[in-house]
Amino acid sequence: MRLHGTQIVNEQGHLEIGGCDTVELAKQFGTPLYIMDEAHIRNTCRQYHSSFVEGLKNAEVIYASKAFSTLAMCRIIEEEGLGLDVVSGGELYTALRACFPTAKIYFHGNNKSREELVMAIKAGVGRIVVDNFYEMSILNDLARETGRRVDILLRVTPGIEAHTHEYIQTGQIDSKFGFTLADGTADRAFDLALSYSNLVVKGVHAHIGSQIFDLDSFTHEVRIMITYMANILKRTGCLLEELNLGGGFGIYYVPGDDPAQISDYSKTVQLALEEACQNQKFPRPKIIVEPGRSIVGTAGTTLYTVGAIKEIPGVRKYIAVDGGMADNPRPALYQARYEAVLANRAKEVVKEVVSVSGKCCESGDLLIRDIALPKAQSGDLLAVSCTGAYNYSMSSNYNRLTRPGVVLVQDGYVDVIVKRETHSDLLRNDILPARLKYLQIVNK
Ligand SMILES: Cc1ncc(COP(=O)(O)O)c(C=O)c1O
Repeated sequence: MRLHGTQIVNEQGHLEIGGCDTVELAKQFGTPLYIMDEAHIRNTCRQYHSSFVEGLKNAEVIYASKAFSTLAMCRIIEEEGLGLDVVSGGELYTALRACFPTAKIYFHGNNKSREELVMAIKAGVGRIVVDNFYEMSILNDLARETGRRVDILLRVTPGIEAHTHEYIQTGQIDSKFGFTLADGTADRAFDLALSYSNLVVKGVHAHIGSQIFDLDSFTHEVRIMITYMANILKRTGCLLEELNLGGGFGIYYVPGDDPAQISDYSKTVQLALEEACQNQKFPRPKIIVEPGRSIVGTAGTTLYTVGAIKEIPGVRKYIAVDGGMADNPRPALYQARYEAVLANRAKEVVKEVVSVSGKCCESGDLLIRDIALPKAQSGDLLAVSCTGAYNYSMSSNYNRLTRPGVVLVQDGYVDVIVKRETHSDLLRNDILPARLKYLQIVNK
């Protein structure tokens, strides 16, 4: 397994993260456990800051909190000088409770509710990224009712098919997100937005997909979006000053994944911008990027305990862990692949190829199809790497499994930032109707 951030294998042959021995972490906090490497997160934020904010000038980096949203994460993001992208009332609530500066919050979503929009307006979020005509009209009404003018970006679907999994492609024409550029819908959206007196169109937004390695996709995106902005200027005389390019920068999960450097990403954007602005004779807009996965992905590791081991001679050997698709649905959802190591025997040579299964009642609950490991025994610890993004945030209570806790490690210190759920948490919102009262006897 490739080591990331502060991961090392210590003298005892244990995987260590942030100066904390994972064997000790498992003893202290139990498994499954999400471990987040704080120094690694901060380091990545700093790379984004220096590459885009300092490198490009007039640029902003906002963290897409859907990747991993907790109070502590919001605080780290603020301390590192980035903004925040939220996509629901819940993510907004988390940001507000973390006292995140509201002017640096961008509110996304393809079906924001009235309540969410009111919450965003009242909080005074920096930008609302309007996705569709329905939202535009209710947002204008709500803004008028609250006596405000709201700064918006229009989400445009630029028609780019980024080379990534179908479920995480978003910029192609057949997408549930945004106003389609190719058929003139985006133009109509802009014209309509101008006519709404309580909306102020600051710029446009596009997000072409996730886990993108080919930087040309971003060049393509910049060209299309600058052309669109220049056409708006020619057609209406209105100069848009902000271009939000979304997120999507890819990360390493398994051999073969070959992500570029963040500095290459920013240079690509810079060059594409210079060229497109020159060609279109359009003044350079402020650039916003919204990375999620690339800020937290490789900073997360999930620690499991190996339980049952099943060998089907000549077919496959399964080693089952005490979590699975409930704490990491990505392999089942879009065939995502991961690397892992036996955290308590990380120096041992690999002996066999096995499949790592979860404990959910689904045959598809397979975390890793084929991985070479030392001969695992029940009780060993398995560390799956690069689980920082879209794991905790996509986790569920399927099979009434309790969600693992999350610890933040740094320099030998460990802080619990999300408590492990208990069985009573599972019943927190259950209500037993009086007519089913006899069941209470069973509960006693
Ligand atoms: C609008 C928008 N911005 C940013 C992101 C973050 O993408 P990533 O985590 O790939 O950087 C997403 C992810 O789906 C998104 O939909």
